[in-house]
Amino acid sequence: MSNELLVRLKACGDFPRHVAIIMDGNGRWARSRLLPRTLGHHAGMKSVREAVEGCIEAGVEVLTLFAFSQENWARPATEVSALMNLLDEYISKETANLRESSVRVTVLGDRNSLNSRTLTAIERVEQDTEGGTRLQLALCIAYSAREELTCAARRIAREVEAGTLDPQNIDEQSIAERLYTAAFPDPDLLIRTSGEQRISNFLLWQLAYTELYVTPVLWPDFSRTHLFEAILDFQSRERRFGRVTA
Ligand code: IPE
Ligand code: IPE
Ligand code: MG
Repeated sequence: MSNELLVRLKACGDFPRHVAIIMDGNGRWARSRLLPRTLGHHAGMKSVREAVEGCIEAGVEVLTLFAFSQENWARPATEVSALMNLLDEYISKETANLRESSVRVTVLGDRNSLNSRTLTAIERVEQDTEGGTRLQLALCIAYSAREELTCAARRIAREVEAGTLDPQNIDEQSIAERLYTAAFPDPDLLIRTSGEQRISNFLLWQLAYTELYVTPVLWPDFSRTHLFEAILDFQSRERRFGRVTA
């Protein structure tokens, strides 16, 4: 099934360079099985692997995954610590695989809010995968788009104050360059699982002209077949960027 979709997708030629995913629905997946929410998060790790491998197969250059939002800190402490432990587990289990597949990992978010163990794990995976060229994997952890934009505004203000930036020269590029995502093109395709039709404070600046794809599939059930379906759907769209069709 997924191979057939991949052949169709490759035949089209119009690939998304950057795919972003809001990985949602772990809790509902667990609840429907009468399991604790944390087991839903655990089951979602397999889907991360599917998404990474699927993106490599499809020739996607950047995959951005929303793993933990700043707002998620308000969840019960047991769930938060289970999520952080899971992140450590993912990093220690997957780093070798990621390196072998030439995946470069970057973590986007507020590092100051992370504990030292998680911070060390993040720095390690970034270092160990630094040479990856096949896929850039951006993991958004303790991430908030409004906070990202606020930090960019603060940096710009400081540079103006220091006299190194002229307000006359502040343009869209000035802002984009001061976001966590400065090194990446904007996402072409945003996938949200679990049917929720909202952005939840994810990449507010970068999603300006991104194609949106919402699937009812819960994140732990998400496989590369679903990824390829989303990409095929993207390929059928007409992106106009405000212009009229030629
Ligand atoms: C996504 O699943 C994982 C995180 C937000 C960390 P949820 O935990 O939000 O699952 P639902 O939305 O409650 O089903
Ligand atoms: C968004 O999912 C954050 C992540 C997937 C990490 P949430 O489950 O936290 O979002 P809301 O609360 O449904 O908007
Ligand atoms: Mg959710």
